[in-house]
Amino acid sequence: MATPARILAIDDEVGMRVGIERALRQFVITVPALDETISLEVETAATAEEGLSRIDSFRPDLLLLDHKLPGMSGLELLEVLSRRGEELDLLTIVITAYASIDTAIKATKQGAYDFLAKPFTPLELKAAVRNAISHLIVRRRARALAEERRQVRFQFISVLAHELKAPLGAVEGFLMLLSEPGAVEDPDKRKHLMDRSLVRLRGMRKLIYDLLDLTRIESGTMKRELSDVDLVDVARTVVETMAPDAKQNGVDIRLECPERLVMLSDRSEFEIMFNNLVSNAVKYNRQDGTVTVRMRDLDDRVIVEVEDTGIGMTEKESQRLFSDFVRIKNAKTASILGSGLGLSIVKKLADLYDGSVSVRSEPDVGSTFRVELRRSPAPSRDAGGTPGLGELIGGVSRSETSLARVVR
Ligand SMILES: Nc1ncnc2c1ncn2[C@@H]1O[C@H](COP(=O)(O)OP(=O)(O)OP(=O)(O)O)[C@@H](O)[C@H]1O
Ligand SMILES: [Mg+2]
Repeated sequence: MATPARILAIDDEVGMRVGIERALRQFVITVPALDETISLEVETAATAEEGLSRIDSFRPDLLLLDHKLPGMSGLELLEVLSRRGEELDLLTIVITAYASIDTAIKATKQGAYDFLAKPFTPLELKAAVRNAISHLIVRRRARALAEERRQVRFQFISVLAHELKAPLGAVEGFLMLLSEPGAVEDPDKRKHLMDRSLVRLRGMRKLIYDLLDLTRIESGTMKRELSDVDLVDVARTVVETMAPDAKQNGVDIRLECPERLVMLSDRSEFEIMFNNLVSNAVKYNRQDGTVTVRMRDLDDRVIVEVEDTGIGMTEKESQRLFSDFVRIKNAKTASILGSGLGLSIVKKLADLYDGSVSVRSEPDVGSTFRVELRRSPAPSRDAGGTPGLGELIGGVSRSETSLARVVR
């Protein structure tokens, strides 16, 4: 069904008003780029004063405004409207018998979108109306998109602030206790409070590094270094780095991979990806569980799977994954720290390789995360961009933002 657009024609010549109505009444505008079809509703007014009162009731999208009117002139009406700013959200085409540069400049200053010089043909009128309405629709879509982005950014910042506030409050509380004379005398209790502070601080640091990774990926200015990378070697290094953490809980990490699997890629991106998947598989595992990392070629794709024997998730819970700050909150995860950014980073990295991430999971049995990456076409962005935020802020190096920070 066609969306209606409202047009108000203000002209003191009755012939002109009738002509405009007749030309536009059955006119339908299509905007193929936006997949929109627009029908027109037309109303008319004989003076600027009458037009002004119709604007509030009829709420036109487009004004066809005669320049020369008895009483208030077209330009004076434009001035009144421009004072109301964006609230009206309409465009104006000024109709004038004197298409002088002077009038054009004045009307543009008052916010007119276009001109039509009298006399004009129905075809000329339709072309001008089509142009203005298409412009208006594009402008509205752009505004709606900008507003949506603003909301997403706002939501992101408020969740981030909340995520930083909680550990900050905890550390502050522990330090206040420790600094109060005689409040905590027992050395074991003092040590416990200091250890808890360190854990919370490491959590904050991990969150900040994750944010840097996210920013580097999303800004599109990440400096990528594409080369033939042996993904098995990357996985081996990540597993070695993770081994001490895994050992603490008796978790065994196994690699089921070919000897080598070489792919044109950025090594540090794979470090981040494996790091997040394997650290999750360790962190959400059970005591004495196992983690199995599998990798193989499948036609033009590379398949990576990380399987664990951990707490798992219900179907509903796994459907929520892969967005920023998503954490599954239940009794089993209550004592496990995390920012909820890891999997969303994995997804964004997989996107760079025209890939996908999915999960199969069963509560108390385990989960398998599967990443599919395409070998060709080549990764979506070229190497050699400008330095990413990670490099710019405080000289944080790539290795520091990925592997060297195995923080739980
Ligand atoms: N292997 C897994 N087994 C069970 N649940 C998992 C597993 N991996 C992730 N999850 C769930 O998904 C949520 C999101 O994981 P994600 O890695 O994005 O964040 P996180 O581990 O909480 O924090 P971090 O940003 O530090 O990685 C986790 O909080 C957890 O509830
Ligand atoms: Mg994680």
